Amino acid sequence: MKKISLLGNVSPTQFFNDYWQKKPLLIRQAIPHFKPLLSRDALFDLATKEDVESRLISHAKGQWDIQSGPFQTMPSLATKAWTVLLQGVNLHDHNADALLRQFRFIPDARLDDLMISYATDEGGVGPHFDSYDVFLLQAYGQRRWRIGKQRDLQLIENIPLKILKNFKPQQEFVLEPGDMLYLPPHYAHEGVAIGECMTYSIGFRAPSFQELGEAFLQFMADSIDLPGCYADPDLHPTKHPAEIGNAMVSQISAQLNKVRFTDDDITIFLGERLSEPKHSVFFDAPEKILTPLRFSHAAIKRGVSLSRKSLMLYRNKHVFINGESFSIGRADKMVLCALADSRGLNGTQVATASKDVMEALYTWYQDGWVTLA
Ligand code: SIN
Ligand code: CO
Repeated sequence: MKKISLLGNVSPTQFFNDYWQKKPLLIRQAIPHFKPLLSRDALFDLATKEDVESRLISHAKGQWDIQSGPFQTMPSLATKAWTVLLQGVNLHDHNADALLRQFRFIPDARLDDLMISYATDEGGVGPHFDSYDVFLLQAYGQRRWRIGKQRDLQLIENIPLKILKNFKPQQEFVLEPGDMLYLPPHYAHEGVAIGECMTYSIGFRAPSFQELGEAFLQFMADSIDLPGCYADPDLHPTKHPAEIGNAMVSQISAQLNKVRFTDDDITIFLGERLSEPKHSVFFDAPEKILTPLRFSHAAIKRGVSLSRKSLMLYRNKHVFINGESFSIGRADKMVLCALADSRGLNGTQVATASKDVMEALYTWYQDGWVTLA
């Protein structure tokens, strides 16, 4: 896919200064002449698959209904006001992946996925807010967006969907194919299909501190080293056998206070966590696996690419791919960082790779994390 400007007249720097996480931005013809990347039938086909997260939402007579996929059949196209939403389409389609990668002026550590929704006339998911930044790209047909900056984010109780109790829209836009609306987190919005419509959501992720804290303690559990056991050679007779004594608390506290973590521990934890594929992701190993020698010849000739399902990040001397971390030397850093940033290496770059990197590439190729270009 050709590189496009996406933000219209707004430069990426201006976007981060004035809009990102701050206020909405409507970009008319962000992608001029945009055509849907997947047909309606292709979307319905994805909705039948076990490894695609899908939801079907409908509303009639004021009642909301939500079901989780996979779906072998869809409601009738003649029925109004239903929508099917498919998460992570970029994992299954090359063009969807290429579209998501156009948003790499924002770091991969923040980029989540491309969700596609198909709706019949009047379809939508109701007035709500999301916890994350989102770019809503109109792909087919028209959708009327109503948006509002409101403090009151109370939701209607006892219904299966998150619908705002008191939605107070302040602005309204009808988006045509190629138009895009950026919304910061917690901005109230409602998109309603005007006729048949498809909308692509480019979503971001921001881990919660509580979740990170819990996972970090688990991560540290694997690496702490506290040799020895509690000892009390000076114990005296006690009148209060049920009481935990001061000596015990202070000795154990002194030991537990030896647990330390460094910026390196945090980097490794974060890199492994942020590069961990979602539970539904399965890699496809090559049908016929080449020998290491043939692989390296082919890789030097043709280059290699990261699988669109692979998540690869790096920081300082640490490289992370699909939840695994590696500590690397200066010489290997260049080639592995180039692989992560460009999501591929050409043959000339592969030819500069050390034996260790070649071995890693071969293992990743066997696992389906890396493919021959
Ligand atoms: C949709 O595509 O219908 C919903 C997207 C959203 O509101 O976040
Ligand atoms: Co939303």
